[in-house]
Amino acid sequence: MAEQQAIHLHYSEAGYGMPILLVHGFPFDNRIWAAQLGELGATYRVIAPDLRGFGQSAAPDNGYSMDDFAADLVMLLDRLGIERAVWVGHSMGGYITLAALRRWPERIPAAVFVCTHARADSKEKQIQRETSAENVMQNGVSDTAYTMMGTIFATDVDRQGEMAQQVYEIMVNAKPHAVAGALRGMASRPDSRDVARKLTIPTLVIAGDQDEAVNAELTDELASLIPGAQHVVIPGAGHMPMIEQPDQFTDALRNFLERIGGAR
Ligand code: MLT
Repeated sequence: MAEQQAIHLHYSEAGYGMPILLVHGFPFDNRIWAAQLGELGATYRVIAPDLRGFGQSAAPDNGYSMDDFAADLVMLLDRLGIERAVWVGHSMGGYITLAALRRWPERIPAAVFVCTHARADSKEKQIQRETSAENVMQNGVSDTAYTMMGTIFATDVDRQGEMAQQVYEIMVNAKPHAVAGALRGMASRPDSRDVARKLTIPTLVIAGDQDEAVNAELTDELASLIPGAQHVVIPGAGHMPMIEQPDQFTDALRNFLERIGGAR
């Protein structure tokens, strides 16, 4: 069990049945899962939390390592009376899922990795993250949000359109200290390829065929490291397939969940 102190985590929940935990990436919140909450809630108990510091969750000064985020989520599941849940981790949410799998493997009967990978940051990436963290603390989140708008969507997505603007609003309204904390948390995360190699649970790796934030080399590597992983590449999607191609994304998730026998 986590030794960390419990904090208030906001979450959305829908449905009954096998518990599915949707873990958002950086610097988003649980609104990125709106389509999946609606669709999968007909068959499963779907829980979509805001990570600490993001959305409507409490935002303490510290505690933004991948282990801290994972411990918060395990405590939330405890509070909800859920011993085992399928974790679906998007990008940073995938790093958090790997952290949880390292520590609480018995609580995760299956996992889905979305636009994510198992490597630690390179030295260069760590320096880049520290520079961004300092910039965010001095000038706010807008530079980071603006830069990410260039890399997180497929090329033909209209950056001024409603969907892209909704994502921009989530990013630009994130709290600076949480954004900086998560940047530093990602920079200091360990390499988790050892965890990936040893997984014996059913897993699905989902990638967008135009993801520039986490490229195909990294997602392919994750899929090849995990014994028996299913790998789905979604055409016409960048780093946000759950929003860019919600139907294809939800179908891939639903097929996987049905295959592992979770449907009521
Ligand atoms: C995310 O979407 O969570 C981030 O792009 C992950 C990262 O910066 O490594």
